[in-house]
Amino acid sequence: MKKKLLIISVLVMLVLSLGIGFTFAKEADYVIKLSHGCAESDPTHLVALRFKELVSIYTNNRVEVQIYPNNQLGNEQEVAQAVRLGTIQAEILYTGNLQPLAPSVGVLQLPYIFNNRQETRKVIDAIMDELNERMIKEAGVRALLYYEKGFRVLTNSKKPVTKIDDLKGLKIRVSKTAVTIKTFQEWGIDPIPMAWDEVFSALQQRVIDGQENPYSAALACKFYEIQKYITEIHYLNWSGPLIISEKYFMSLPEDIQAALIRAGKETCEYITWKVGVDEEIIKKELEKKGMILLGPPEDEEIWAEKAKAIWSEFYDNIGGKEWAEKVIKVKKEVLGY
Ligand code: MLT
Repeated sequence: MKKKLLIISVLVMLVLSLGIGFTFAKEADYVIKLSHGCAESDPTHLVALRFKELVSIYTNNRVEVQIYPNNQLGNEQEVAQAVRLGTIQAEILYTGNLQPLAPSVGVLQLPYIFNNRQETRKVIDAIMDELNERMIKEAGVRALLYYEKGFRVLTNSKKPVTKIDDLKGLKIRVSKTAVTIKTFQEWGIDPIPMAWDEVFSALQQRVIDGQENPYSAALACKFYEIQKYITEIHYLNWSGPLIISEKYFMSLPEDIQAALIRAGKETCEYITWKVGVDEEIIKKELEKKGMILLGPPEDEEIWAEKAKAIWSEFYDNIGGKEWAEKVIKVKKEVLGY
């Protein structure tokens, strides 16, 4: 008898808890698929997680953000096309991988345009509204946030690069961005443009000797297993937006749009702080894992001089001369030099 009672009460509790579950687990009104090409331990994934959390809070769970890391939905350039069409709603990606679709973002790709992260941040904030208008026109996407995660440093498996001539003989992968390809050519080598999702295996199979990305990528992508040296060049600060299909965004109710904008803004504030705090820890971690951190090249002024000399050749490729000159002017205004 006691056993029967026990079984009945367990069954009742089960039914009740299922009932309660069904009552409270309300389905979201909108689902945003958010793709990115980085590992789950990369700052980009933190951006995705924070954004998801804030969107859920500010929309009272009416919007669910589903995160797809590691290029699961396609590589960064392919997904950008899908976001343009609205078949995937959102993506976080590197500026260099968006530039072929939205030329105006290329202004942030000019080599040695920024001396540090703070400068990049201030200028992005100052040009954000106009940049967004341009992205909408050029690529049918808007940025809900535009963040940066540190300079793209050079890793390789073959030799210490401490001056520009050491680059000779190295096969270095770069993103498929004209201005970046030309920068490396000016430095004396023909780089290998390649999609990001192919980089790890190309390094592993020794198809390429090196690549350039922030310190955080070397740790998150486990480059320390297949790369030995890191040279801290300062030619480009990794920057990238969280983009959303404009067609999709405009189809949403105004209060949801406002919540997404708010979530984007606050996610950006969070990640800007977090990246700053983490960089030194990441460097130490890479050293512990056996990488040799060489610091900046001893002749970096030559790297900078050669790279800056190509800027004007690329104005047509990055939204036009007027736009490029405007951003350079804004940079002088907001930085005071
Ligand atoms: C690239 O090199 O293609 C990008 O920096 C990858 C990324 O999104 O972090």
